[in-house]
Amino acid sequence: MRGPRSAFFPIVCTLFVSCPEVNHGTGMAADSTVRFTLLHRTCKLVVLLCFLHISVTFFFYVRSLDIRFAFVQNQQSHNVSTQANRVVDLDFTSETEPKEGETKKAEPAELVPKEETGDESQAPEDEKKKAEEPEKKLEKCPETSPLLVGPLRIEFNTPVNLDQIKQMNPNVQPGGRFRPGDCVALAKVAIIIPFRRRDEHLKFWLFYLHPILQRQQLDYGVYVINQDGEAVFNRAKLLNVGYREALKDYDYECFVFSDVDLIPMDDRNIYRCFSQPRHLSVSMDKFGFRLPYNQYFGGVSSMSKEQYLKINGFPNNYWGWGGEDDDIFNRLSSRGMSISRPSGDVGKCRMIRHDRDKQNDPNPQRFDRIAHTRDTMHKDGINSLSYNVVKTERLDLFTKITVDVGKP
Ligand SMILES: *[C@@H]1O[C@H](CO)[C@@H](O)[C@H](O)[C@H]1NC(C)=O
Repeated sequence: MRGPRSAFFPIVCTLFVSCPEVNHGTGMAADSTVRFTLLHRTCKLVVLLCFLHISVTFFFYVRSLDIRFAFVQNQQSHNVSTQANRVVDLDFTSETEPKEGETKKAEPAELVPKEETGDESQAPEDEKKKAEEPEKKLEKCPETSPLLVGPLRIEFNTPVNLDQIKQMNPNVQPGGRFRPGDCVALAKVAIIIPFRRRDEHLKFWLFYLHPILQRQQLDYGVYVINQDGEAVFNRAKLLNVGYREALKDYDYECFVFSDVDLIPMDDRNIYRCFSQPRHLSVSMDKFGFRLPYNQYFGGVSSMSKEQYLKINGFPNNYWGWGGEDDDIFNRLSSRGMSISRPSGDVGKCRMIRHDRDKQNDPNPQRFDRIAHTRDTMHKDGINSLSYNVVKTERLDLFTKITVDVGKP
């Protein structure tokens, strides 16, 4: 619509409009006046046509702007509530992450299923040391792990199996536990994954995350909280269960809450806690590598024990899909906390495509619920959590806790 054509027309018009002056200037006799009138009329007509053309062009231009704007709104219409939702362009340069500049940018590391990357974390020597003199005068790990490689290639075309993952991660202990052998980790991190019938996704998660977390030199454990039964899914309650159950195992100070289908594309996105609650999955392929809206806190997040307790944990009454992450955001902001995030570059991650789960339809009450977080958060949270553990399994690569969380 707005091509060379629209630029061409006004030029032609101007030429025509300027012709009376040219004629006038020559100062000819009577019959030239007739010609002049004719010319004058033609010019008027042309000017009119030009005006029409410009108006039509303008009309379509405005409409196309409108459509683009509507499209942006549409992306979030499933979600527009009391919050002002806007696609947020992430600043790909500035960053809240400490000392990112120290790690040089690398080409995407080869970490796809078919490639054997070998043992990334420790030399056998360190292992021996660890066994003989456990935790004896080990230095603290450096602030930035020297093992990080930067951007990673993540894909889900080649299936992976648990035996293969186990072989590739010989230093991961039963229950999915690990700590660096040659230094004292800066953080004790429990990774909590709410789960139900997503075994294929979990395999990819374990395949990609175990090597990453080891390179990040964390003292970590992986907890898969499996909702028992067929009732409606309750993500936030499972996260609360994970928090409580993990603390029975070890003195964790930091909790990373991760969906099973999200894989970071850069190992500089450290799965640990920060001075403010952290949102880690800031630029998901699903949302075109942008934040869907500023208050978005879904996907992968981390909180220290202190931060978590300050908001009384998470809500227990969000059954079905959506809203619980917004509730958590409301809790944090009502407690005066802000969200820390890695840069859009470091925070890239991939989501494994899948159909919507059964028994996890959008929760129709979610908009109402998130409008009342401030009033409900004191009585609904970790202080009101009740559930029954059905089974705890210490598997090779993770601890699986099957739990009955009740129903709505
Ligand atoms: C809005 O959409 C995001 C992203 O899909 C989701 O995480 C969140 O729970 C939704 N919120 C509501 C209230 O539906």
